[in-house]
Amino acid sequence: MTDFEDDSVARLKDVAGNPALQATAATFLQASVAAHYSYNFFWMGRPIIQYPQDMVALQEIVWATRPDVIVETGIAHGGSLILSASLLAMLDLCDATETGEMLDPRAPKRSVVGVDIDIRAHNRTAIEAHPLSNRITMIEGSSIDDAIVAQVRAAVGDAARVLVCLDSNHTHDHVLAELRAYAPMVTPGSYCIVFDTLIEDMPADAYPDRPWGPGDNPKSAVHAWLPDNPEFEIDKQIDHKLLVSVAPDGFLHRRA
Ligand SMILES: C[S@@+](CC[C@H](N)C(=O)[O-])C[C@H]1O[C@@H](n2cnc3c(N)ncnc32)[C@H](O)[C@@H]1O
Repeated sequence: MTDFEDDSVARLKDVAGNPALQATAATFLQASVAAHYSYNFFWMGRPIIQYPQDMVALQEIVWATRPDVIVETGIAHGGSLILSASLLAMLDLCDATETGEMLDPRAPKRSVVGVDIDIRAHNRTAIEAHPLSNRITMIEGSSIDDAIVAQVRAAVGDAARVLVCLDSNHTHDHVLAELRAYAPMVTPGSYCIVFDTLIEDMPADAYPDRPWGPGDNPKSAVHAWLPDNPEFEIDKQIDHKLLVSVAPDGFLHRRA
C-alpha cells in the first residue's frame, strides 16, 4: 500500500471513535431524506436516485473488483444502470489500453442486467436511446419471481466476476428473498450492495407513504440473512469512509 492508502485506512479506523462526526452525518442524513435529496442527481443525462457518496463507493468497488457483469434490481429512470454501464465501459477501455487490443464500442465486453417490476415506457425509450444502452439488458417483472431470477441467471451466464446491487422494493421480506436469489450470483471477492438500509436508522414516520420503516427494511433483512451466509461480511470500512450513505451495513463483501 502507498503512504496515502495507509493514512486513509488509519483515518477510517478513527471514524468509529469520532461520535461528533458520526452524529453530524446522521443529522444530515435525516434532514436530507426529508428533503428527498436522493432525487437531485443525474448520471450522464439520466436521473439517478442515489447519494453521490454511494456512487463514488460503487466506482471504487468496480475499479477494485473489475466485474464482468453488474446485476441491478430497481431501474426507475435508469440512472444507476447508466452509471454501472459507464464504469464498465471505462474498465473495457482500460483493458484495451493495457493490452493494445482494438476496442469495438459496438461489441462491449462487460454488461449490466437490470430488473424492474414496472419499466415505464418513457424510461425504457430514454435508456434504449442512451449511447451506453448496448451494454444493458432490461428485464421486466418482480425481482423475486422465480422466472425473472432464472432470466437474470441466464443473462449472467458464466461471467467470471459478478457484482449485485439490490435497490427495488425495500421491505424486509422482499430484500430477504432478493438476497437469497441474487447473492449466490456474486462471485468470490465481489460485492452485493444492498441500498436503503438507512431506513432502519430513520424516524418511524420518515416514509409515510411506504410499507417499510424501522424493523422492516433492507438492513433488517441483511442482519437476518448474514448469519446463514458467513461467506459474506459487512465492509464497515466503506461505511466509515462514506459517513453519508443510504447503504450502511449494506456493502456486503463475499470473501475471496
Ligand atoms: C429506488 S428505485 C430504483 C432506483 C435506481 N436504482 C437508481 O439508482 O436510479 C426502486 C425501483 O424498484 C422498482 N420495484 C419495486 N418493486 C419491485 C419488485 N418487486 N421487483 C423489481 N423492481 C421493483 C420500482 O418500480 C422502482 O423503479
